Amino acid sequence: MKKIILDCDPGHDDMMAIMLAASNPEIDLLGVTTVAGNQTGAKTFENARKILTLIGKKDLATGKEIPLARGADVPLFKPLTVAPQIHGSSGLDGAELPAPDVDALEIDAVDFIIKTLNESNEKITLVPTGPLTNIAMAFLKAPAIKNKVKEIVLMGGAVYDSNITPAAEFNIYVDPEAAKIVFDSGLPVTMIGLDVTNKSLMTFPVIEDMIGWNGPASKIVGPLMKFFAQANKDNFGIDGAPVHDALAVARVIDPSVVECEFLNVDIETASELTRGQTLADLYKVTGKEPNVDVALKVNVDRFLELLLGAIRTLDEKLK
Ligand code: RIB
Ligand code: CA
Repeated sequence: MKKIILDCDPGHDDMMAIMLAASNPEIDLLGVTTVAGNQTGAKTFENARKILTLIGKKDLATGKEIPLARGADVPLFKPLTVAPQIHGSSGLDGAELPAPDVDALEIDAVDFIIKTLNESNEKITLVPTGPLTNIAMAFLKAPAIKNKVKEIVLMGGAVYDSNITPAAEFNIYVDPEAAKIVFDSGLPVTMIGLDVTNKSLMTFPVIEDMIGWNGPASKIVGPLMKFFAQANKDNFGIDGAPVHDALAVARVIDPSVVECEFLNVDIETASELTRGQTLADLYKVTGKEPNVDVALKVNVDRFLELLLGAIRTLDEKLK
């Protein structure tokens, strides 16, 4: 089993990442930490509480309760940018989730990440699917924890694509300085960017079919994915729900789900025009050492097999 900490800003696709991580037998979900991004810190935290309540609070692979810790409400330097145009005013519009009965740990996300890494007897994979503020703060506060990190598999960035400005992807744009700290950490980083996640679609027919399952999980996930798919169609002309964040978890479960190239990737932090751009040196013209495995191809069928399998597993478990 692979031990992971999922740092997220739920967010419809973050919800799918949590559901996949909590229900797949390959993953030991050591904790969920939240960060401001898709919505304010208060809203992403509340959404995480509701999602963990919906799925029964426990990691299926271990039977253990999944700890939840709340993180940063603002980026390191920039004012917060949220995305109601994609995720709605709650950050998880499209269906009513159960009233939460999951409470946060006493410690915050940064201290939870530091404590969990320090106390672990094996290296842990960090899976950030929101702005990288918590991860960067943990590295700044306790640099030695890097020795306990196996790898960082993050959803963010893009080589050819963008969504928040013509130059940048949302997670990197919101906190570019945090992203630079993570990309320059010297740790193995895999970038699951828009080049592959915008192809990793739950199409409208797949969503309608899932709604028809009418299980305890699928009857809520379906309408949420329908809302998310419509928002992506309205904003980007994408014909379905690009389940960005779940692809990062899928990569941890089955690395063959994406094909990567080892490239130098630097983050634009100086220019306002291209703020947050993940500049990938495809042709090695800079002479800078590669530092990131950049996902450029995706096996969408394998991804959907894992993702839909997770929802079916939760439908069975929650019956
Ligand atoms: O650009 C897509 C990413 O930004 C996803 O992680 C989505 O949840 C938002 O956080
Ligand atoms: Ca996210």
